[in-house]
Amino acid sequence: MKYPDIELNPFFSWANRPRIMYGPGIRSELGFEMGQLGGTRAVIITDKGVVNAGVAQMVADAMNKSGLLMVGIFDHIVQDARIDLINEGAAFYRDKGADCMVVVGGGSVMDSAKAINILIGDGADDFMPFAEQAALWDGAKPLPPHIVFPTTAGTASEVTTAIVVLDVVARVKLQVTHPYNADIAMLDPELTVKLPPKITAFTGMDALTHAVEGITSSGAEPIADACGLHAIRLIFKYLPLAVNEPDNITARGNMLIASTLAGLCFGNVMTGAVHATAHALGAHYGIPHGLANAIMLPVVMAANVDAAPERYAMVADAMGIATHGMSPAEAAIAAVQAVKNLKKGIGLTETLRDFNVPNDPDELQQTIDLAASDSQISYNPRYLADSDVLELFLKAY
Ligand SMILES: [Fe+2]
Repeated sequence: MKYPDIELNPFFSWANRPRIMYGPGIRSELGFEMGQLGGTRAVIITDKGVVNAGVAQMVADAMNKSGLLMVGIFDHIVQDARIDLINEGAAFYRDKGADCMVVVGGGSVMDSAKAINILIGDGADDFMPFAEQAALWDGAKPLPPHIVFPTTAGTASEVTTAIVVLDVVARVKLQVTHPYNADIAMLDPELTVKLPPKITAFTGMDALTHAVEGITSSGAEPIADACGLHAIRLIFKYLPLAVNEPDNITARGNMLIASTLAGLCFGNVMTGAVHATAHALGAHYGIPHGLANAIMLPVVMAANVDAAPERYAMVADAMGIATHGMSPAEAAIAAVQAVKNLKKGIGLTETLRDFNVPNDPDELQQTIDLAASDSQISYNPRYLADSDVLELFLKAY
């Protein structure tokens, strides 16, 4: 496909702070790299699932062999980065006399760790006042050493500046950004082979959503496009393989790289209505983030195609669709079908009905309000009124 007629965004900035290191077994470099950053006493921030799968131990062994002292494992993080547990993690870090953190986990763990490091760097003990601000860039200072190992190929929190936290009292998800995220993201596919097929599938759909929404965001620009389009190529080739052959290191490695690339895409240009609705569904009905995205992605794409057909045509091309001879609108519609086919191939058949989400407009109103006030909805290529958001939910039912 020839490059379509796409308007160049006249002003944009693109940043990527964490150094990225890739390789099966790259964790053996942990001690040396942390030493270079000045860290000597490390806490591992993780969750019980990662501990029970033996993955935290794989990293602890690598720390031991590479000469980095581990002073404690904080494994209390649960689904969604809860502010109360972030505060607990910061207290743990201080109690142990740590001076650096090694983070092993998926999105909730990585987001929680970023928040914990802000508390440590600031000398504070409650993240709520930070979460209430959308951005923490004014006067931000570098934070203590922080190396992260993503154990899912999905959220890309290892390379983004965003932290999505859950206020368990108000049942809302808040997003805040801080310029100092991890110092190094180590992508070690050996740490992801134990991830169950279902979680592999829906976290992979989160990565796909980041790429599709980044490329079609109102803030889209060519550098982010390049990252997002290659992420889509890798996901369509390797996500089914990673789901069906969990031990396939090539598939796992390419999915980690795809997820990171998708993060480099959306982390700079934001997302859209899939994420806005998924955040609301997660806060009100506890639907895991990747699964909520997987449910909403084809519905939102179908609603958006007329607003940015050339951009969705590029997405179609990256998915491997033979777009030659198709109009941009036809290619865009083919991309929606390709997403449905991919979901079927990796066993994701859930709808909102499976999570007891009501289909009554009155009962849905609070969730609609939450989605409509989410920061990400303003980047959707098409303006969505409350009635449009309701329609999206009903089509996903
Ligand atoms: Fe996401």
